[in-house]
Amino acid sequence: MFKAVPSFLKSPAAKVAYVFLFIELVIFGLWIKDNAKANVTGYSVVTVNATFANYFLEYKIGEQFDSKRCDGKQLFVFVITAVKLFDQRDLIRKTWANKKHLQDAFIVFIVGQPKSRLHEELLLKEKELYSDVVVTNIPDSYNFTAFKVHAGYYIHNTYCAHVPFILRADDDIVTLPDRFVHFIKTGYFGNEDKAIFGILLRNTQPVRDPNHKWYIPMDYYNQSTFPTYVNGPAYLMTGKSVEAILEKTKETTFFWIEDVMFTGLMAEKTQVKLIETLELFKFHCNKRDANGVAAFNSWDHVGYCMREVGSCDKAGIPYVTLISHAPAFQRPDIELAYSDLVKVRCNESSAK
Ligand SMILES: *[C@@H]1O[C@H](CO)[C@@H](O)[C@H](O)[C@H]1NC(C)=O
Ligand SMILES: *[C@@H]1O[C@H](CO)[C@@H](O)[C@H](O)[C@H]1NC(C)=O
Ligand SMILES: *[C@@H]1O[C@H](CO)[C@@H](O)[C@H](O)[C@H]1NC(C)=O
Ligand SMILES: *[C@@H]1O[C@H](CO)[C@@H](O)[C@H](O)[C@H]1NC(C)=O
Repeated sequence: MFKAVPSFLKSPAAKVAYVFLFIELVIFGLWIKDNAKANVTGYSVVTVNATFANYFLEYKIGEQFDSKRCDGKQLFVFVITAVKLFDQRDLIRKTWANKKHLQDAFIVFIVGQPKSRLHEELLLKEKELYSDVVVTNIPDSYNFTAFKVHAGYYIHNTYCAHVPFILRADDDIVTLPDRFVHFIKTGYFGNEDKAIFGILLRNTQPVRDPNHKWYIPMDYYNQSTFPTYVNGPAYLMTGKSVEAILEKTKETTFFWIEDVMFTGLMAEKTQVKLIETLELFKFHCNKRDANGVAAFNSWDHVGYCMREVGSCDKAGIPYVTLISHAPAFQRPDIELAYSDLVKVRCNESSAK
């Protein structure tokens, strides 16, 4: 069992907290019994009805969010993650979401319903230690990701609507929230009312192989391509876009691949502009093999290599702000990608 204990529970503060754990567990056990239907870890529960034209899910968020927590912030970051990835969240807190990157940004991790008592208990401790985990009773499986994203939108729109920008992020990206804030403050994103910034995917075809993770049967979606949409692992959006999406879900046929649905299938209805921002969202490898081909490429899952120099803005801040898919949750890769991202230097012509 101790192997399964995440590293944050080994800190001295956590050890002190153990003394209280037993008592809490008894109380918590009673609470869970009383809330057998709700079954969400936390102290008070908010019910959200995510309604689509053909489908709805009533889910619960395990807390009454305090709006003050995001006061004065420029960026609201929500990270989609699974309950069991305790160490992954810890690693994110130690790297790109550490305090120095969050001066003007605010982060929450959105998780689904814990599947075991142990996980419920660990989440409760994690919430107490960091106050950045939002526990829900959304099924903690891949095809319910759309509802975790919905929960991120909902929390921004209900409690943090005064924060002008939102970053939707997977838990395997590496970014620098303070760098995004810099670009927000310097007007990089212009005066867009409803816009999503990121990597646009055009003419993507639905996967028709029944064995594939992203299989789409013809009777679920019968067009040969998806509309242009913004690549899901990470995109930046204005507050008004979030509001517009939440307003229009009722008129939208549910589609479980959430980036396709929220940013593509809904784009016409919401009038949200999709803006390609490769400078920030796509890093280009500058290591070449003997044939002059990039040695690693983040997009083919072979690995990644960070460009060592990049173009910068007038203030000398490199544009590159995000790496998607640090390969599959490996601890060293998040650390490596983070250390590479903070090391990028401005190239000579932009240093002038
Ligand atoms: C949630 O929305 C659905 C569809 O509109 C409705 O049938 C259901 O009663 C709603 N639930 C609540 C609690 O309002
Ligand atoms: C997810 O998959 C399960 C099992 O195939 C299915 O019952 C469920 O309806 C799916 N959920 C969504 C939101 O598509
Ligand atoms: C595709 O689906 C739509 C809506 O479900 C339907 O109206 C249309 O006839 C379908 N087209 C084809 C070619 O099956
Ligand atoms: C160097 O920076 C300048 C100005 O930001 C940019 O236009 C140019 O493309 C960059 N060159 C390289 C090789 O990155």
